[in-house]
Amino acid sequence: MAKPLVAIVMGSQSDWDEMSTAVKVLNDFSVACEAKVMSAHRTPDLVVDYVRAAPANGIQCFIAGAGGAAHLAGVIAAHTTLPVLGVPMPSKHLNGMDSLLSTVQMPQGIPVATFAIGKAGAGNAALFAVAMLALNDAALAKKLTDFRKSQADKIRATILPGV
Ligand code: RP5
Repeated sequence: MAKPLVAIVMGSQSDWDEMSTAVKVLNDFSVACEAKVMSAHRTPDLVVDYVRAAPANGIQCFIAGAGGAAHLAGVIAAHTTLPVLGVPMPSKHLNGMDSLLSTVQMPQGIPVATFAIGKAGAGNAALFAVAMLALNDAALAKKLTDFRKSQADKIRATILPGV
């Protein structure tokens, strides 16, 4: 099995419904990834150990999803210079606005590229990871171009019922 290039991490198993979208997109592009649950608050040592070991294990970037006081992506970014793509999870009380703001509002110097709340964000973070990896992989770049074309073709071919 190929060594994972993308590390997908999430704060809780309850994030899996959204974050599994990132795994599915990477699988569609045959980009090897691994997915793990770890929490900036509940397992801070686990996060730091995992992030510090990642470069030696071949990881090229992180996709981090968390909800509420969503500090996971920011904490990961604090411990690595690899790109960190943050995905805010929908939350029970504030519909993900808390997750979005706590993921996106990083202090200058420690960037987190923040995506949309939920599944669209998870899918786009994966596509962004593909785009980064495609910079040095012509076959992957072609797959990305083909994906865009087939997506556009589907829209062009749409026939609305009764119109
Ligand atoms: C965050 O708290 C997780 O990322 C999750 O989105 C949220 C709720 O977690 P659970 O209480 O469902 O484990 O840390």
